[in-house]
Amino acid sequence: MLRFRYIFIIIFIAIFSAYLPIRSRAQESSEDYTKDEESPSYMKLDDMKAEEIFQSICSTCHGKDGRGISDEERKKLGLDTMPPNFRDPKFNSREPASFWEGVIKYGGKTYGYSHFMPAFGGILTEQNIKDLVSYLKSIGYDKRYPQGELNFTRPFFTTKAFPEDELLYIVNFTQANRNSFKNTVYLAKRFGPVYQIEIKGVGEFSDGELENELEGGFKWCFFHSKEILFLSSVGIEFSVYRGGWSYIPYLSFGKGLGSSGDLSLQGNLKFKHDPKNGNLALISSIASAYDITLAAGRIISPIFEFIYENDFRSGRFYLSPQVYLAMTKRGHVALSLGFRRIILGSSAEKFSVVGFLLWDFADGWFFEGW
Ligand code: HEC
Repeated sequence: MLRFRYIFIIIFIAIFSAYLPIRSRAQESSEDYTKDEESPSYMKLDDMKAEEIFQSICSTCHGKDGRGISDEERKKLGLDTMPPNFRDPKFNSREPASFWEGVIKYGGKTYGYSHFMPAFGGILTEQNIKDLVSYLKSIGYDKRYPQGELNFTRPFFTTKAFPEDELLYIVNFTQANRNSFKNTVYLAKRFGPVYQIEIKGVGEFSDGELENELEGGFKWCFFHSKEILFLSSVGIEFSVYRGGWSYIPYLSFGKGLGSSGDLSLQGNLKFKHDPKNGNLALISSIASAYDITLAAGRIISPIFEFIYENDFRSGRFYLSPQVYLAMTKRGHVALSLGFRRIILGSSAEKFSVVGFLLWDFADGWFFEGW
């Protein structure tokens, strides 16, 4: 098993070091949208209010009211992609303001979107861009929707509080008395402003035997505030497997730290009850993630997670370091790899390797935006 650990560490370093040379391409591609424009309205952009700037240079493609344009107008303008509806609160709340600031400054292409969304960094000041984003965020604001700033980076064990649209393939290799290899397909779907349903299919190979498990869950984000960068949810998961079933009610929270929330803390308190076998366990965890931007939406995030389990007979602590890497320019496809080790108490589990491939399907197809 020691050899396995070395192989794992080498793969780990190889994958992540491949991404390190990516530096902000954003600077290079800041095409000057209006270099050839002679229109006098561009001359005094500095003094203009965000709404006026929007009306004079954005509304052609985004519509006077920010709702977008008709398909006919789109064809007339020759755009390959339909500009979004800024007045749709679900769309409007999804990305953090800083992400939109980047798109406006460096252009759609830099962030894996249509190159028809121009780069305005050459003609708009940082302040102009900030004001424009505040304006756009205000026209589609609906306080029921948690804002993108609260969508913190996903740790492996801690359930996020943010309602998601995601598809994940999760692997978990555990070295124990009986080694096991667990494959999970997980689908989460948001509905309404604050609800999410999820379904999970698990196949676990253990000593040549296959065990299956099916899980369903529901989550409600009952509190969220962009001002204090905090959100909290309650949820419940049901799972059925051969010889039993269990349910897990839980409380989940997320807190952004620092002015931008690049550093986040997320935590869970879960109770697991298996009525047939009478097993009861408390599982609590806390995870820190620090997002480092490589380029556009590509981030790399070292994550440290502490997990405490207590089955009311004994308790144990685990530590799990992971690296999360958002691979696409939009940041909507990500890979995570890490391991978990017991640090206090005793458990049959000695060492486990954890990882997932994540696709946020609300932000485009898997192969878009690379
Ligand atoms: C020439 C047409 C055009 C102009 C002018 C234009 N945009 Fe866009 N914009 C687009 C298109 C097309 C998209 C959709 C890109 C995609 O989804 O691939 C877009 C997308 C966006 C996005 C959303 C990115 C996301 O999260 O999906 C923002 C924000 C934005 N534009 C802001 C602006 C602002 C602010 C201005 C004016 C300063 C502006 N745009 C001017 C065409 C334009």
